[in-house]
Amino acid sequence: MTQLPTLSTDRLVLRPFNLSDAPSVERLAGVWEVADATLTIPHPYPAGGAADWIATHRDAWAHRENLTLAICASTTPDTLLGAISLKISEAHRHGEVGYWIGVDSWGHGYATEAARAIITYGFTDIGLHRAFGRHFTRNPASGRVLQKLGMQHEGVQRDACFRWGKFESVVMYGVLAAEWDAGPDTHAGQSKPPTQPGTCM
Ligand SMILES: CC(C)(COP(=O)(O)OP(=O)(O)OC[C@H]1O[C@@H](n2cnc3c(N)ncnc32)[C@H](O)[C@@H]1OP(=O)(O)O)[C@@H](O)C(=O)NCCC(=O)NCCS
Repeated sequence: MTQLPTLSTDRLVLRPFNLSDAPSVERLAGVWEVADATLTIPHPYPAGGAADWIATHRDAWAHRENLTLAICASTTPDTLLGAISLKISEAHRHGEVGYWIGVDSWGHGYATEAARAIITYGFTDIGLHRAFGRHFTRNPASGRVLQKLGMQHEGVQRDACFRWGKFESVVMYGVLAAEWDAGPDTHAGQSKPPTQPGTCM
């Protein structure tokens, strides 16, 4: 299982990134409103940076360290809406979900739908025991995504991260495999072979 999977939901396809997605990554993730709320996205986004990032995805998945997939509408699988990732610890059998959506596509439930699919994959196909997510206290939209997934609020880590020159407190949410509800919009276990070669957050 070295090829990155492709996952389907009612409205979305989550597929491996291709190098041809790089300009869209730089355009969508390159805006301040997206980078500002994340731990790792650079700003300004350096030219060529997205291609370098995409080139890491295959190895990260081969080593079961990270699964990163492009979020696209099922009807327009070549057009990037955002990105979803699961940072895996095989030793501890847990995974941390991460996501961003292009600003024009906020508020349609895409982050929640994509996160539900990749977490389901983590539980059913990777064999994870726990999934979790974290967000800056000043980013309630991300907290709402984690709540809609049915995750439990686990606390706040005060000043846990130093980003953009200041400390950020981080809210923790988690769910165990035995508690997980894959929900109505995820076809659990329906992972398909990639339609394009995989070349991830
Ligand atoms: C956070 C983010 C991924 C959400 O994507 P999205 O596709 O719009 O998310 P969804 O539509 O699935 O859900 C968003 C929820 O947050 C709510 N929301 C939006 N802004 C909010 C705010 N300021 N306060 C509280 N809730 C808010 C929405 O109403 C929605 O909840 P609802 O369905 O109950 O109405 C997107 O805003 C984003 O990419 N932000 C920048 C990057 C980022 O924050 N990544 C996560 C880092 S932890």
